[in-house]
Amino acid sequence: MTDSKTELGVTFSREAVAETDAEVRARHGDNRAAWNEAAGYYASQLDRAIANLKAGRSSLHPIERRNLGDLRAWCDTAVHLQCASGEDTLSLWFEGAKRVVGVDISDVHIANAERTSAALGAPATWHRCDILDTPAALNGTADLVYTGQGALCWLHDLAGWAAVIARVLKPGGLFHVLDDHPATWLFDMEASRLTPSGLSYFRHAERSKGWPNSYIKEAAPVADQAIKHERLWPLSAIFGALTGAGLVVESLGEHPEAYWQNFPNLPDAVRASLPLTFSMKARRPA
Ligand SMILES: C[S@@+](CC[C@H](N)C(=O)[O-])C[C@H]1O[C@@H](n2cnc3c(N)ncnc32)[C@H](O)[C@@H]1O
Repeated sequence: MTDSKTELGVTFSREAVAETDAEVRARHGDNRAAWNEAAGYYASQLDRAIANLKAGRSSLHPIERRNLGDLRAWCDTAVHLQCASGEDTLSLWFEGAKRVVGVDISDVHIANAERTSAALGAPATWHRCDILDTPAALNGTADLVYTGQGALCWLHDLAGWAAVIARVLKPGGLFHVLDDHPATWLFDMEASRLTPSGLSYFRHAERSKGWPNSYIKEAAPVADQAIKHERLWPLSAIFGALTGAGLVVESLGEHPEAYWQNFPNLPDAVRASLPLTFSMKARRPA
């Protein structure tokens, strides 16, 4: 990437990484507006999500299910950071957590989640806020803090994120993330052969307007959409933030499986040779 690139119909422009709390908050505020637009599409899909959950179809990824084991055996309360419209949160309930809590910055996502949990009669509570402002009432309440599937790139303060995880977990509680592997940023998402994107693995942030049509259908014209901001977090930054907050990392996995159809034009064999996702488990010491 030089200073900009166009991928999946969206133009991304490189920008300086956020350094101050004011810059972090401004970017998260822009992302709130952008996610409110995207969540309008999720609203049109709610009946499908409700029907899936009623039919017992969990949206957890097999890697997550494998890593978490039988939630019925150990998880009273699961807190999902960046819970979107709550389908994965409610899947944690379906998988055995006795109660679930979702936190998300988007007003529309949280309204969707409230509607979904009411339709299911699920023991769920929802908080609309920046995850950095996760209510203190949740401190020390979670057997599991769960996040991922497209979460970390929207955050611009990873130390602040890890501090929230550490305070929300019960002593002995488990944190789990499955997300895009940061190495995926290094390649052109649309190319039909592996092509470097040219961006820096170690220090990269970008802004964009609009959503890929393959993800958010029926999005408004790009000109009418909010600016949104993403950040590449290297694996070492994620590991460093969690251990810096006092958590003990118990496992790290790098996986050729994705949870979405990224690199749609690469041959299957090439796609299967890439680390498309990573998963990490970390524990708050008892
Ligand atoms: C790709 S979605 C996560 C997908 C999710 N796994 C699902 O069930 O669809 C990213 C989510 O992060 C939320 N988000 C972005 N920045 C946030 C922040 N600073 N605090 C809380 N939520 C945030 C967005 O509103 C959005 O719901």
